[in-house]
Amino acid sequence: MSVEEVLAACRQQDGGGGGAVPEPPAPAAQAAPPPEPTAAASKPAASAAKPAASGKKPGAMSVADMLAAARGEVSDDAAAPKPAGKKPAAKPAAKTKAAAPAAEAKQPVGPKDTMSILAAARGAAKPGPISKAEAAARAKESPAPKKEKPTAPPMPAKPDYAKVAPAPAVDQAERRGFLVACAAIFAGTFFVTSSLAIGFSSLAVTSLLWVLGTARFMFPNILAEPPTVFTVGFPDEYAPGQVVTKFKAQFGVWIVRYEYEGQAQIYALESVCTHLGCTPNWLDGEQKFKCPCHGTGYYKDGINFEGPAPRPLERFAIRVADDGQLEVDKSRKFKEEVGQWADLASYVSV
Ligand code: FES
Repeated sequence: MSVEEVLAACRQQDGGGGGAVPEPPAPAAQAAPPPEPTAAASKPAASAAKPAASGKKPGAMSVADMLAAARGEVSDDAAAPKPAGKKPAAKPAAKTKAAAPAAEAKQPVGPKDTMSILAAARGAAKPGPISKAEAAARAKESPAPKKEKPTAPPMPAKPDYAKVAPAPAVDQAERRGFLVACAAIFAGTFFVTSSLAIGFSSLAVTSLLWVLGTARFMFPNILAEPPTVFTVGFPDEYAPGQVVTKFKAQFGVWIVRYEYEGQAQIYALESVCTHLGCTPNWLDGEQKFKCPCHGTGYYKDGINFEGPAPRPLERFAIRVADDGQLEVDKSRKFKEEVGQWADLASYVSV
């Protein structure tokens, strides 16, 4: 039912208020003045609180009352006593027309609030704006579906061309032969390289020796010999009968303080055997010179007395130098067999 039909039905029930053409209801202030707030009106009175069906004028009915009358029952709001001072008796008819759509009349009969009526008028296919409480209730009724955890698709099978062929089995004998060949090649290389290294090293050493020998020829060949004139100390340093051998190794001479033909002398004997030129030794225990080559023996004064030597030892010239020391001159020799030991230069008297 449309709002006009609802209003017409209400007027018909009211008895004479309706017509063929519904007229917009006059404002409540014009249709009926609001009742005075009295004690009797504020009390819940069944006669005063009855809806339009029980005698209320159509112009003084509220939209809810008119809807309830259209449904054929009295709403709680209409049945409940209302204070006359708080709520006006009627609302503008135009507002009532707009608030009651035609679909409202087709709703099932029963108490409904304005939100329910509007929701029914909108229908399920056209949801409109909803309140927060309604949104919470909807969320409880139909919670959001849980998001399933995405799962990775299975790996595709590896193609044949990408598969690595297993390494062929290597024969142990073949591997051993390969290792032996490698070792032989390494040994041969080492031998060849070692031979080359030895050859080049020998060549380098030979070249160095040749260069050194050539350089040696650039210098004169000098024979380093001891001087022929040298000093052997003071005469007081020699005891009677003493044979000093410390100059034998360096100068080849013995310094002897002894007597010859009853005269005490200091003389220098050459340490060379008169047989074949060997070097005799002084034997202090036997008080003689002894040649190790053929056994010739000499007395302390140099006279040979045994062995193959044919003559006595020879003397060097000796004298007292300016500084008082004994000076030996090997450039001059004195032989006993020719009487040279009698020369004053062959001895120093003490
Ligand atoms: Fe001295 Fe023959 S060399 S005894």
